[in-house]
Amino acid sequence: MSGPDLRKAAAARALDLVRPGMRLGLGTGSTANAFVALLGERVRAGLDIVGVPTSEATHAAAAGAGIRLATLDEVPELDLTIDGADEVDGRLRLIKGGGAALLREKIVACASRRMVVIADAAKRVETLGRFPLPIEVNPFGLAATQLAVEAAVARSGCAGAVSLRRTQAGDPLRTDGGHHILDAHLGRIPDPEALSTALWAVPGVVEHGLFLGIADAAILAADRDGSAEVT
Ligand code: A5P
Repeated sequence: MSGPDLRKAAAARALDLVRPGMRLGLGTGSTANAFVALLGERVRAGLDIVGVPTSEATHAAAAGAGIRLATLDEVPELDLTIDGADEVDGRLRLIKGGGAALLREKIVACASRRMVVIADAAKRVETLGRFPLPIEVNPFGLAATQLAVEAAVARSGCAGAVSLRRTQAGDPLRTDGGHHILDAHLGRIPDPEALSTALWAVPGVVEHGLFLGIADAAILAADRDGSAEVT
């Protein structure tokens, strides 16, 4: 069974959590997109919900699917956010931000009573860190911030290179909020809480992709003999 099939299976299971009248946070990425597409089908069949997107890309996809949208300023408390992840560990700690939407994703998830992760079960890891950790930074003083991030990484017991994410054209990537992304290639993060605290202490760091104590559940789809097993 292919990755897209597994992502769709996880997204379909998440749809069971949606109730009429809910205020939903809509995540970013291919798995979240699969959820938005399925949710759009329900909406067109009469389901009444309002969605708050976590990126311009999801805004476009959800609007195209016919989903009624609001900003977090208009609807500051959400019932449920459904979003993908780049890694999930056994304590529901996540790495997110592969799609550069981590800041809005974290704000929306934290404004929600529940956040449920949907993913291909290949995203499940014993120890976070194989996926490069995205760190969103203000463009001002980028070189100085990068040095401070490298020092914070080392202080928190991690080792590895930190690189500026670029577009395919080679320009520094800009997030929806106009920031840059530093990717920390750490291999493993022995103490995610310590790294989180160290990164937050760096001026210029806007947010990082460690989601700790935020997710309430994960719906992970695995290939079992050609069919999706969702847990
Ligand atoms: C977006 O910034 C990310 O946090 C995504 O949620 C994450 O990269 C998962 O994306 P996929 O569902 O495309 O793997």
